[in-house]
Amino acid sequence: MTTPAASLATPYRSHTAGELRASDAGSTARLAGWVHRRRDHGQLIFLDLRDRYGISQVVIDRTATPEVHAAASRVRSEFVVSVSGDVALRLPGTENAKLPTGAVELRATELVILSESKTPPFYINDPDAPVDEALRLKYRYLDIRRQPMADRLLLRSRMVQAIREVHHANGFVEVETPTLIKSTPEGARDFIVPSRLQPGSVYALPQSPQQLKQLLMVAGVDRYFQIARCYRDEDLRGDRQPEFTQLDLEMSFVDEDSVMAFVESMAIEVSRATRPDRPIQEVPFPRFTFDEVIERFGSDKPDVRFGMELVDLAPALIDGDGTPASGFKVFDEALAAGGRVKAIVAPGMAGATRREIDELTERARRFGAKGLAYLALEAGGEVKSPIAKFLVAEVQRGIVDVSGAKEGDLILVVADTTVITADVLGRLRLGLGDRLGLADRDVLAYVWVDRFPMYKWDEESARWDATHNPFSGVVPDDEALLVTVSGDPASPSPEDPAGRARALQYDLALNGWELGGGSIRIHRRDLLERSFLLQGHSLDAMHEKFGAVLDAFEFGAPPHGGIALGIDRWAALLSGQTNIREVMAFPKTQSGGDPMLEAPSAPEAKQFEELGLRFVGLPPRVRDSSGHADQKRDEVEV
Ligand code: AMO
Ligand code: AMP
Repeated sequence: MTTPAASLATPYRSHTAGELRASDAGSTARLAGWVHRRRDHGQLIFLDLRDRYGISQVVIDRTATPEVHAAASRVRSEFVVSVSGDVALRLPGTENAKLPTGAVELRATELVILSESKTPPFYINDPDAPVDEALRLKYRYLDIRRQPMADRLLLRSRMVQAIREVHHANGFVEVETPTLIKSTPEGARDFIVPSRLQPGSVYALPQSPQQLKQLLMVAGVDRYFQIARCYRDEDLRGDRQPEFTQLDLEMSFVDEDSVMAFVESMAIEVSRATRPDRPIQEVPFPRFTFDEVIERFGSDKPDVRFGMELVDLAPALIDGDGTPASGFKVFDEALAAGGRVKAIVAPGMAGATRREIDELTERARRFGAKGLAYLALEAGGEVKSPIAKFLVAEVQRGIVDVSGAKEGDLILVVADTTVITADVLGRLRLGLGDRLGLADRDVLAYVWVDRFPMYKWDEESARWDATHNPFSGVVPDDEALLVTVSGDPASPSPEDPAGRARALQYDLALNGWELGGGSIRIHRRDLLERSFLLQGHSLDAMHEKFGAVLDAFEFGAPPHGGIALGIDRWAALLSGQTNIREVMAFPKTQSGGDPMLEAPSAPEAKQFEELGLRFVGLPPRVRDSSGHADQKRDEVEV
C-alpha cells in the first residue's frame, strides 16, 4: 500500500511497518502494529508486524535479549505491540523479495504489548481464506484488517479524492444538502423519521438530493456537486443497498452535450487516477440511443466489451411481399403479430450437450420466453436443429447468413414481442459472455445511452410513469407530443402521443452496469405541471410533493441539468467486484440489517412516548432503558 508523503512517526513508532529498506540497515527503529504471524523457533522468535502500510519482520533472540524473548513468548496473532530495535540486513538467502521490507529485519531490544487479542473468528493473515460473509459483516473491523478489504477501501478513498479534485478544478461548488427532508421520489419507498417536535409528522430521508440541487441552480450556484448519502427502501441486490452514496452534480446554462462532456472527462480522470493499469475501451465514450441499445444488446446498460449482438432474423423469414413464410409456425406467428424473431450467436458452442441446451432453454423461460429455438452450424456447414424439419433449406441458409454464424457456432433464437425478445436475448447474451469468458476483465467499457422514452404506461394506476426522473425535460422536437388523446392531461390513456416522447435523459453504463443517470430538466413551471399531470399527479398532489420546486420556478430558473453516479457501484467496478458490499465499510445484509451494530433495533419505551408512536399489529419489540430487547434478534443472513 502507498505511504503518504507526510511523516507518520509518532511516540509509538519511528517508521511504519512498510517503510524500512536496506539503506536503513545500521540504524535503530521503533515499529507499532498487529502481530500478523508469529513463528517460534525456540532460540529465535519471528514476528511479522503489520500495519496499514505493510509488514516488517521482527527477530527476538533469547540469548541477546532474554526479557524481550519472554514477552514475545506471550504474544499471539493480532496482539498490538510496539517494538524497538536495530535494523539489520537479513542473512543472505533469507531475504523476502515479495515484501518491500524484505531485505531487512528489526532485531528487537524492547517489546511492549499494547493490547491483547482473542483468537479472531477467521484468519486475518490469509487473504484467500474463504470466510462466511455473515461472519465478515459481524466482525467487519477484523475483515477490514484483511488485505483485500483494506485495499478496496483505499481505492474508494482515492476515487473520491480524485472526484473532488476534478470538480474543484472545474469550478464546482461542494454543497451539503440536508438528509432530514421531504419525500424525493426516485421510484423507491422512503425511509421516514418521526419528528418529536412536531408529533404526527415525519421527515423522509432523501432518495437523492434531486429537488435540492435544482433549487441550488435557481439560487445561482451554477455548478454544484456533492458526495451524497441516499436512502431507498427497496429490495436489495448485488448492486443495490438501502443506504448508498451518489456523486451528485448539477450545472446551469447547459445542454446534454455540456453535461456529458464534463462527466466523461471527469470519469476518465477518475478512472486513470484510481486504476491507471486498466485501459478504457473507447474514448470518446460510444453514445447510443435507447432504441439502438435495446435492438443491439437487449439492455439499456449494455456490456460492450464483447460482441454477440442481437440480430434480427426477419429478413431471412419473410418472402418477397413481406409475409412471414419460414414454415415454422412459432416464428411466422410472432412476426404476423407484430413481434420479432431475433437471435444471438454463441461462438464455438455448436457441440453443446442436450443438458446445456436444456439449461439455456430453462433460463430463457425464466426470463419470460415461451421457448428457445436453436440451430447448430456444424463442421462442413451442416445445420442441426430440432426445428430444421420445419424450415425450408433456403430459410435455414438465410438464418445462418443473417446471423453471421460460422462453423462451430450455435444460433439461439427467440420469437416474441419486441420487449421480450430483447430482454431474454440480452440476458442470455450476458450469461454466455460470462461463461465463455468473452469480456476482457481489465477493460473499462463506458457507454452513454440517451433518448430514453419520457414515460412508460403504468397499467395499474392508469398513468404515464416517468421512466427515469420526473423532472426530465423532453427532446425539443417531441415537446408537442406531451398531450393526451382526451385533450386533458389529467386523463391519460395508453394511446397518448406522450408515450412516444423522448426525454433529454442520458445514462452512463460501465461493463454492463448502470453507473449513473441524469437529464436536462424542465425549467418552466407550465411544462413541468403538464408533465406531472401526465404522470398522474393532481395539481394539489404535485404541490404537496414538489411545491418548493414549482414555486422556485416562478423566480427565474436557469436552464439546468445534471447527473448522479453511484459511488459504490463505481468503486465495485473499478476494483473488479460484483457486489457493492465489497466496497462499503459497513454495508447492510439482504434483510437490511447491520449484524455488527445489530441494527435495526427496537426503540426504547421512552422514545415511543416522546414521539407519540405505537406499533400496531406487530409483536411489541420495546427495549427497557438497559438496552435489552424483549425479543431474540433474527438470525444473521446476507
Ligand atoms: P438514479 O435513481 O438513476 O438517479 O440514481 C443514480 C445512480 O445511483 C446509483 N443507485 C444506487 N446504488 C446503490 N444502491 C442503490 N439502491 C442505488 N440506487 C441508485 C446508481 C444509479 O445510476 N436524481 C437522479 C439523478 C439525476 O437525474 O441527476 C437519480 O437519483 O448507480
Ligand atoms: P414446439 O413446437 O412448441 O415444440 O417448439 C419447438 C421448438 O421451438 C422448441 O425447441 C421450443 O423451445 C422452441 N420455441 C417454442 N416457442 C418459441 C419461441 N417463442 N421462440 C423461440 N423458440 C421457441
